Amino acid sequence: MPGAQIEARGLAKSFQAPVLEDVSFQVRPGRSLALVGPSGCGKTTILHILAGLISGDSGQVELSPKEAGRSLVMQDHGLFPWKNAARNLELPLILAGLAPGERKGRVAAMLQSMGLAGLERRYPSQMSGGQRQRLALGRALIGRPDLLILDEPFSAIDAITRETLQELLVSLWKGLGLTIVLATHSIDEAIFLGDQVLVLGGRPTRILSSLDNPVAGLDRDQNLPAIMELAARVRQALAARV
Ligand SMILES: Nc1ncnc2c1ncn2[C@@H]1O[C@H](COP(=O)(O)OP(=O)(O)O)[C@@H](O)[C@H]1O
Ligand SMILES: [Mg+2]
Repeated sequence: MPGAQIEARGLAKSFQAPVLEDVSFQVRPGRSLALVGPSGCGKTTILHILAGLISGDSGQVELSPKEAGRSLVMQDHGLFPWKNAARNLELPLILAGLAPGERKGRVAAMLQSMGLAGLERRYPSQMSGGQRQRLALGRALIGRPDLLILDEPFSAIDAITRETLQELLVSLWKGLGLTIVLATHSIDEAIFLGDQVLVLGGRPTRILSSLDNPVAGLDRDQNLPAIMELAARVRQALAARV
């Protein structure tokens, strides 16, 4: 999995009113981008355009390689409540046409690497929030995508579990060489997970600031000068919006 390159140019989208205006960014293979901005600013809309679920009214998204595999973890996980953990994981492999023997092996390996071994028969309603999130992550990764898109992946999870999951995501990201785009309304999470942090805001939403983050995935000590400075710049950009 080489990781996909993303080139987004001039994305605009209106629903009843204009939501996005001229959103452009680039993500290099194997890097991560965090979109941070207030609720309703259009983060999910951008992710759904990237995932190919909806199209922008104007602008383009170019992926290279063109056939790069994309996976989206939706804001509410999008797990099927009537399927147990193993069946949820297996579904993308069935859709991809894999033979039952290979599906079984891949599901067992994914349960293992997500720390869900032994829970394969549990239904999503019988799992904790953190376990459900790991299942959703596993389902997104089982098809071996080049680009992983995550919509507020950890916002509904308690702080301690959230840190463990953020670290799991960093190790998957580094280990698999994935390209990651995630949306969050947490400044700390954006700084822990995004090589680049795009601050979104305004009406309609545009990019208020694009910040390079040399400490992504490395440290979560919020007293480190580099992290404090970056957090201050994100806050300034959010506060300066008109
Ligand atoms: N399918 C839709 N139909 C109408 N309005 C929508 C639709 N999807 C999103 N919106 C509107 O677009 C804006 C941005 O939504 P969204 O992308 O979900 O923001 P965020 O993820 O940052 O909270 C909101 O005002 C929302 O109500
Ligand atoms: Mg959203």
